[in-house]
Amino acid sequence: MSTELSGSTVLVTGGTAGIGRTVALRFAALGAEVVVHGRHARRGADAVEDIRATGGRARFIAADLADPDAVRRLAAEAGEVDVLVNNAGMYRFASTPEGTTEMFDTHMAVNTRAPLQLVGALAPGMAAPWPRSHRQHEHRGRHHPGARRRSVRRLQGRAGTAHPHLGR
Ligand SMILES: NC(=O)c1ccc[n+]([C@@H]2O[C@H](COP(=O)([O-])OP(=O)(O)OC[C@H]3O[C@@H](n4cnc5c(N)ncnc54)[C@H](OP(=O)(O)O)[C@@H]3O)[C@@H](O)[C@H]2O)c1
Repeated sequence: MSTELSGSTVLVTGGTAGIGRTVALRFAALGAEVVVHGRHARRGADAVEDIRATGGRARFIAADLADPDAVRRLAAEAGEVDVLVNNAGMYRFASTPEGTTEMFDTHMAVNTRAPLQLVGALAPGMAAPWPRSHRQHEHRGRHHPGARRRSVRRLQGRAGTAHPHLGR
């Protein structure tokens, strides 16, 4: 069955658990191919299995968002992405005297740097001239490509202006 999101690809970071997993299942039910991201292969395989069991399309990519090289690899392996859900996050709590610089840096890397890296790496592809591929042209090019191009270009402009080097 063709749905509004058929032919599109959605990357959900932290799609192996909690909110991200629910979001991944929902996007798959709407017809998108879902790239489920997380660290734990077993949980990733479970999420992919659940999506496939309901007739959806999914694949898993493991990457620790604290590692900038792993984030670059995640973006490269995800390929062309239409929707990026920057969901993954971590919160370890400690009082200020007990907090460590390592803890601070890890939070900033996972919750702030990695999402910006992913936008930097993926948004330019989203804004590429339409149709980006035969696959998407078939499914969605005829609907409202102009509106999509405009909104993604706005995103690209913002990401490119504020953080020109993060995707590299
Ligand atoms: N739940 C809430 O009430 C609430 C409230 C406000 C905001 N949020 C935010 O909403 C998002 C999802 O929350 P949640 O409760 O669903 O979280 P969760 O159940 O703890 O799941 C977190 C997800 O993020 C992934 N993740 C964590 N650290 C990672 C890292 N270093 N590298 C790669 N992946 C990592 C985990 O993947 P693996 O387990 O596979 O490593 C998991 O899929 C988070 O950003 C959270 O801060 C949640």
